[in-house]
Amino acid sequence: MNVVQPKTLSDLADEVDHRMEEELERVVTKSLLFNLGDGKVYYDSGATLAAKYPGKFMLMGDDPRLPKMPAKPTLLDYFRCRFASMNHLLQSATHALKAGLPEKTILACLLHDIAVAGFIRADHGYWGAQMIEPYVDEEVSWAVRAHQALRFFPDESVGYKYPEAYIKAFGADYKPEPYIYEAYKRAREHKWYMSARLICVNDIYSFDPNAKVSIDDFVDIVGRHFRQPEEGLGWDSSPSAHMWRTLMRPTRFL
Ligand SMILES: [Fe+2]
Ligand SMILES: [Fe+2]
Repeated sequence: MNVVQPKTLSDLADEVDHRMEEELERVVTKSLLFNLGDGKVYYDSGATLAAKYPGKFMLMGDDPRLPKMPAKPTLLDYFRCRFASMNHLLQSATHALKAGLPEKTILACLLHDIAVAGFIRADHGYWGAQMIEPYVDEEVSWAVRAHQALRFFPDESVGYKYPEAYIKAFGADYKPEPYIYEAYKRAREHKWYMSARLICVNDIYSFDPNAKVSIDDFVDIVGRHFRQPEEGLGWDSSPSAHMWRTLMRPTRFL
């Protein structure tokens, strides 16, 4: 009788290596945006790639170099597998939690900079708001969008000063652009002004690397206030599902 020997750890490691090699035989393409970030107005056209890598397949799915996401990803899966850092978001949300603020405000603090942590820095309030808009209360996404402008303008009534960190980062003479002034003026008149202002109040500008924070403290709040799509975030047909899919598979050829 033939006895099938169990695979050794090294057999399994070889199989994984082989699968990775096969996956990387497919061409991982960088979009223009990644190259712009390196100061180059350039992208590899399909024809260039076909000439450079004859016979290879373009990557049309997961990038094997990135953490594997579940088939039906949730917001928390993106936090764990795609966001470069959760610390600032968790510290801000923890601050709001300890202050006893409403759950919607705590959620807004938890999500206020998700564009920075997981998508793009420029105009982060607008991108972040757009990403979450279909899944949260309108007031939450409105506040996330508006915080981008409000953080440049003090409000003594709630003890919010122009951040010292901005003087260091942008210089003492930095002036926000006109569209930010306009957005600030509009937000001041809005019924949800204070919801956005509270994001600024709880925005932790001096990050404490030793602060004990955990996403576990917010699982229930996210469960109650973030409408997780059944199909998985990115596979639903909301107006921002494509943004989450792009984050899931940022190097997909098309
Ligand atoms: Fe921000
Ligand atoms: Fe922030």
